Amino acid sequence: MNIAKRSLGAFSKRFYSSSKIVPKHNTIQDIRDKYNAGTPLSMCTAYDFITATWVNKANCDLLLVGDSLAMTSLGYDSTITLSLDEFKYHVSSVCRAEGPSLVVADMPFGTFESDISDGLKNAIDIMKLHSKVTSIKVEVGSYIKDKYAMRFIQELCSRGIPVMAHIGLTPQKVHSLGGYKVQGNKSLLQMQELFETAKQLQKIGCWSIVIECVPHKMAQFITSKLSIPTIGIGAGNGTSGQVLVISDLLGMQGESVPKFVKQTVNIRDIATKGLKEYITSVEDRTFPEKDSHTFKVKDDLWNEFLSSTNHK
Ligand code: KIV
Repeated sequence: MNIAKRSLGAFSKRFYSSSKIVPKHNTIQDIRDKYNAGTPLSMCTAYDFITATWVNKANCDLLLVGDSLAMTSLGYDSTITLSLDEFKYHVSSVCRAEGPSLVVADMPFGTFESDISDGLKNAIDIMKLHSKVTSIKVEVGSYIKDKYAMRFIQELCSRGIPVMAHIGLTPQKVHSLGGYKVQGNKSLLQMQELFETAKQLQKIGCWSIVIECVPHKMAQFITSKLSIPTIGIGAGNGTSGQVLVISDLLGMQGESVPKFVKQTVNIRDIATKGLKEYITSVEDRTFPEKDSHTFKVKDDLWNEFLSSTNHK
């Protein structure tokens, strides 16, 4: 059964006064139930109303408004340049799409690094954009080197803001990582730190963790030692679920996609073919077709019009 439908059932009894308390989308508890049942979780990014409509229609468990939108939708060369205002605009449009997918929104670079209270305010502002925003996602380095992010996450969790942490390759830290590189495969220390970071994140209250570009053995090991779901990207199939960037998955951009992506369709080719067909039909005047694409006016009215303008 669709897990959003199950939550409708769970919420059909009213526990507090409100005229509108039925969430028509998956809740964190629904995701936990699916995880506890051992069923893999699906997650995909979406950046606007139309892509969010597709993700919901496909009944994806989780929808991530990722800051990857900076590169995939806005044409920036990294996620670092994205502003909070640009990001919020996209979160709001995604949330206007109806459907079951639980919406998680990123904390873009620069929205929490300057100080904790500034970060808390920005996280709350993102949550307040729409009631569908159910969780914030925060990229975090090693628990030893990135004590600040650990503290920030703890502050969020202690205020009842659900946090999905993001470890391994964290694109917002591309410069300190020295590029977009696989993590947790260089040294014993790096592997131990990755594992310890995941455990600490669970301890301070994260409800789930994204693990990006990590050897599959590491991701599987971490997953087996945690009691919260892990969502992998480039981390093999031993995680509790998978996430992909929609433009990679659906072939919306160039030919080259990261090694870990399974491209299921090539929308760019389909779209370009459709556009070329449109251009040709405009140029050879086969579009618009007289009957199917045009509107009519009654003959007598038309003739009256012509007479009025003296053009018979
Ligand atoms: O921003 C994003 O899309 C992400 C995913 C790659 C996990 O963080």
